[in-house]
Amino acid sequence: MKNRINQLLEEVNQLAAANQDELEALRIKYLSKKGQISELFNDFRNVANEDKRDVGQLLNELKNTAQNKINELKDAFSGNENTDNKTDLTRSADPIKLGTRHPLSLVKNEIIDIFSRIGFTIAEGPEIEDDWHVFGALNFSPEHPARDMQDTFFIEQNPDVVLRTHTSSVQSRVMTNQKPPIRMLFPGRVYRNEAISYRAHCFFHQVEGLYIDKDVSFADLKQALMYFAKEMFGENTDIRLRPSYFPFTEPSAEMDISCNICGGKGCPFCKHTGWVEILGCGMVDPNVLENCGIDSKIFSGYAFGMGVERIANLKYQVKDLRMFSENDVRFLQQFESAY
Ligand code: PHE
Repeated sequence: MKNRINQLLEEVNQLAAANQDELEALRIKYLSKKGQISELFNDFRNVANEDKRDVGQLLNELKNTAQNKINELKDAFSGNENTDNKTDLTRSADPIKLGTRHPLSLVKNEIIDIFSRIGFTIAEGPEIEDDWHVFGALNFSPEHPARDMQDTFFIEQNPDVVLRTHTSSVQSRVMTNQKPPIRMLFPGRVYRNEAISYRAHCFFHQVEGLYIDKDVSFADLKQALMYFAKEMFGENTDIRLRPSYFPFTEPSAEMDISCNICGGKGCPFCKHTGWVEILGCGMVDPNVLENCGIDSKIFSGYAFGMGVERIANLKYQVKDLRMFSENDVRFLQQFESAY
């Protein structure tokens, strides 16, 4: 018995473990209920009475030594853990990744900001619309090509329900529901049945403007748009209005600004003309006012509509329109510092 104890004492004094699992295995081997030391305690019954004192002392020494050794190893491991990165409270924190505003939101917000300074407020309308608000009220004749299946998404075989092709549909709603004076912007998403490529998409974004009051003239429209162009693209920006046609405005025009990439000298972006088109506009057609219950003999007004992607392109020179809807973080991260 004494020999066995001494042998174990020697063994226990040299215990070593590489990790917590090994340490636990050692504890089980020596100190658990069925461990080698406990086994010796069981055998203690059979020790002759005269030897009990000596053997008992030795056995206790063995048990304490083993317990101390295992505690010592345990402390060493928990010491290691304290120097671990995870629990080092003095370590500097991981940098927080900031979210970014989408470039189209940045541009939309800037447009809203500029017009809000001259009294425009905001309204929104549904993207799924009826024929009347998108076309009928806006003076599109029944056979107008814009209603053609080529351009418009119709919903569930019901030709009366469409995805709006322009934010002018909000004009019809607002003019029907509110009395002049009306001075409002309608930002939103619009849909057209186009093949998706770098320069066209089946959805894009517009900001529409509408001003209805007594004695509103074309000069007021021109002044508001010139103010916008200079605020958006800089004091040196020139504008020009070209006669155009929309069913819901008369007269109608398209507005170009001097190309802000080459400063008007001519470059591939402006196709060497020095000008880029940014919006459609005109005086609200009296038929439209009447369709919406506004007396065209008392009131007149102007409207304009611009593509947000187009303005964003001029500002950020995004070569491929699809970038705006792909949510590639490498693209979006470039707008991190903008607000
Ligand atoms: N709705 C026209 C378009 O989508 C733009 C426009 C708006 C033109 C208001 C005139 C007045 O092209």
